Amino acid sequence: SAPIVRALADLRAQYQTWVRAGETVGVVPTMGALHQGHLSLVQAAKAACDRVIVTIFVNPKQFNSPEDLAKYPRTEDQDAAKLAPFDVDVVFVPNADEIYPEGYATTVSVTGVSDTLEGAFRPGHFDGVATVVAKLFLMTGAHKAFFGEKDYQQLMLVRQMARDLNIPIEVVGCPTVREASGLAMSSRNLRLGDAAKAKACVLYQLMTAATAQLAEGMNWEEVQKSALTELAQAGFGEVEYFELRCADTLQPVSDLTKPARLLAAAWLDGVRLIDNIAVASA
Ligand code: PAJ
Repeated sequence: SAPIVRALADLRAQYQTWVRAGETVGVVPTMGALHQGHLSLVQAAKAACDRVIVTIFVNPKQFNSPEDLAKYPRTEDQDAAKLAPFDVDVVFVPNADEIYPEGYATTVSVTGVSDTLEGAFRPGHFDGVATVVAKLFLMTGAHKAFFGEKDYQQLMLVRQMARDLNIPIEVVGCPTVREASGLAMSSRNLRLGDAAKAKACVLYQLMTAATAQLAEGMNWEEVQKSALTELAQAGFGEVEYFELRCADTLQPVSDLTKPARLLAAAWLDGVRLIDNIAVASA
């Protein structure tokens, strides 16, 4: 089964031998409760790198609600079993005091990309993400890092952070893995009841329908309005956002002259679902 390393000193000793041997190192940062989405990143890393480190750390700094942190699934034994067939070199599972020792005082904050959408609805979340990912990049010494498009804004944030801090790492984005129903895989889906799980795919269905309506020339305000109505009818709670944005800047757009992205966050059965899809330019 996959070799678990908890101490940073042991991780460093490992990667130093690899780097001296001229091997490329890939890292897949996760918070565990692994599913096919995570495993697709592991597969991409294995294909592109000589050595692969998977990190599992439920990062307290990126949770904006203590309740969400407490309820976040922790399934280390199952995670190790799921990773076994992939033959990864190290699973780094640090303790919180290895990442944030007493007296820890530094936050990495990325302006612009953090201000909108997820950043607007989850204050402090992206500072927590940028901080832990910067630390994981430096701790693992990886040449390439693999992130999912499922968290599109996070992928943009991580790219900006690595560039701004001159961390010599290539950030690779990988496509969203979905259930047969279209529902984007997520560790939080474990918290959906059976009835809610059956309804959850409506979010993706309405997003694809919206892109089709846009392609037919319907205007964005109308598309958005009908999607919000249908989400409410399907039993969704609050829709935090259902937005058409520029794929590069995440600024609002209302036409398809440039590549756009449709991004949404909505509550269902007490669980917050997020998703996003590409919208082809006309
Ligand atoms: P987590 O939610 O565990 O996700 C880890 C990685 O898996 C992220 O890059 C995420 O985008 C990707 N991922 C999740 N679901 C996916 C899916 N259905 N298809 C493809 N990729 C998927 O994102 C985090 O953890 C944390 O914020 C982290 C980056 C580890 C920092 O703590």
